[in-house]
Amino acid sequence: MFELLKEQPADNILALMGMYASDKRTEKLDLGVGVYRNSDGLTPVMDAVKKAENTLLKDQISKSYVGLLGNLEFVASMKKLILSKSISDDNYVGAQAPGGTGSLHQLFLLLRQANPELTVWISSPTWPNHSSMLKHLGLNFKYYRYFSEKTASVDFDGMVSDLRQAGRNDVILLHGCCHNPTGANLTLSQWNEVAQLCERLGVMPMVDLAYQGFGRGLNEDVEGLRCMASAVPELAIAASCSKNFGIYRDRVGVALYCNKDTQVLPIVSGNLKSVNRLTYSFPPDWGATVVSMILRDKNLRQLWDSEVNGIKDNINVLRLELKNALRRSTKSDRFAFLTDHTGMFSRLGLSKEQVVSLRRDHAVYMVGDSRINIAGLNSQTVEVLSNAVAKVL
Ligand code: LMR
Repeated sequence: MFELLKEQPADNILALMGMYASDKRTEKLDLGVGVYRNSDGLTPVMDAVKKAENTLLKDQISKSYVGLLGNLEFVASMKKLILSKSISDDNYVGAQAPGGTGSLHQLFLLLRQANPELTVWISSPTWPNHSSMLKHLGLNFKYYRYFSEKTASVDFDGMVSDLRQAGRNDVILLHGCCHNPTGANLTLSQWNEVAQLCERLGVMPMVDLAYQGFGRGLNEDVEGLRCMASAVPELAIAASCSKNFGIYRDRVGVALYCNKDTQVLPIVSGNLKSVNRLTYSFPPDWGATVVSMILRDKNLRQLWDSEVNGIKDNINVLRLELKNALRRSTKSDRFAFLTDHTGMFSRLGLSKEQVVSLRRDHAVYMVGDSRINIAGLNSQTVEVLSNAVAKVL
């Protein structure tokens, strides 16, 4: 039977992980997949997570099923973390899902169920799995302009002019903060403009939020999203806990849906239950309960806040160090944008050939569009990268 299957295209980011793993050179540098590494090159378990896990291990008395929507205390804590009071607790429903990808997937399934004809508008460029998943699920999608290579910043005029083509009941997928792969983000007033545009066009914004806290701060990173949430009639959010709780392999995420009209909420909640049942039944509990414990306990929350802030500060210092090192090595200011961007990623603006040469001749691994994971650097490797980039320019 399965000899009838066709070979599937490899995911670029994951293929790069494989190439890096099989490279025998000891001085190799991995700036591919978006994983935070400390100055020793490790991705440690956060202290707040370890503490909550120890307590959970001690106190957990059953591993029986929880519920199709997962841990509802976790869902409520995530709603508070992301949206605070911008949406009342009566105006949303949500479900736990395996990671940000799982949350996106379940929301995409709901969109397809509601209207298989709609178009999802995604940014150009975006995280490659957005288009892959939409294609896989048979949903229509179109790109809107987002990033200007020339200015290394958001092409807001291009974005608005493309989004004006969206039809009623289409969906606009936005990155909540720390845009992946560009690192270039909307300003608060641009978020407000997009919110107004969505309302005018009758389209629903959907937000992929995978890096809250890694840009400017836990609240600052979602200012725009919160303004949009209060302004628009309805909104969907797929949020990941992989990065800001450092629990990548535990697969923890949440799908939220907000609507000012509460009538529709029970049906959405019922559909979220149904798509969970039909895909994996119950979402995995351990990591979600750990997150919920951290967000509900004052001391754990304080510890986690300070750990997330530490990561954010570290990323921002690395951005500055890299900008300065590249200025020295290339004797130019062409990488000055690095400190205007936020989050784990920026694209260096190199050609495909230059990216290949960095990998082949200098053992520096980055995604083909020259996206680098700034959070994979340290003060020493900043120099290694800058010198290698200068050699391939
Ligand atoms: C990335 O963009 O590197 C991360 O979101 C990891 C992934 O799953 O692609």
